[in-house]
Amino acid sequence: MGLGINCVGHVGIHVTDMDRSIEFYRKVVGLKVTGLWGAPSRRNRQCFMRIDTMHHNLVLFEMPKEMDKSGLDRSDSAKRRIGGLHHIAFAFNEREDWLLAIDHVRSCGVEFVAGPYVHAHEGKDEGTAFTGGSGSHAFYFLDPDGNRIEFYCWMMNISRPSIAAPEPDL
Ligand SMILES: [Fe+2]
Repeated sequence: MGLGINCVGHVGIHVTDMDRSIEFYRKVVGLKVTGLWGAPSRRNRQCFMRIDTMHHNLVLFEMPKEMDKSGLDRSDSAKRRIGGLHHIAFAFNEREDWLLAIDHVRSCGVEFVAGPYVHAHEGKDEGTAFTGGSGSHAFYFLDPDGNRIEFYCWMMNISRPSIAAPEPDL
């Protein structure tokens, strides 16, 4: 039995350049700014961003001014050999919207690091596509700090065991 949690509500990430990240998440991901707090001079700002009307779904935390960012790994977060964030996924209810988002992200000059593909067919997309997949249609790209972002639609529901849910807690 669940505890009554509804869904993952928001994710907080560190960013090295607040203005650049706000611009990216506004333009490419389509999020809205709710508010930006903190002092630019101290480089400790926090930006609360939202998908629709809920106060925030993503929070950007500016890395402190004193921090040495020269050696930071900005490569694909999903491929880093360290712990921490792997990727952030944004769900679409409608496949049509998801398809239009493919063109939108590309029109922003952002390249995909994986997909678009379906998480259901046996394939050779670096082992990420397999019969037991969720059925999601997905593609992936990186934010300015290398955080991998997923846009997907049509993830299956789980009500009983299946090839895609071999041992589900029910
Ligand atoms: Fe995912």
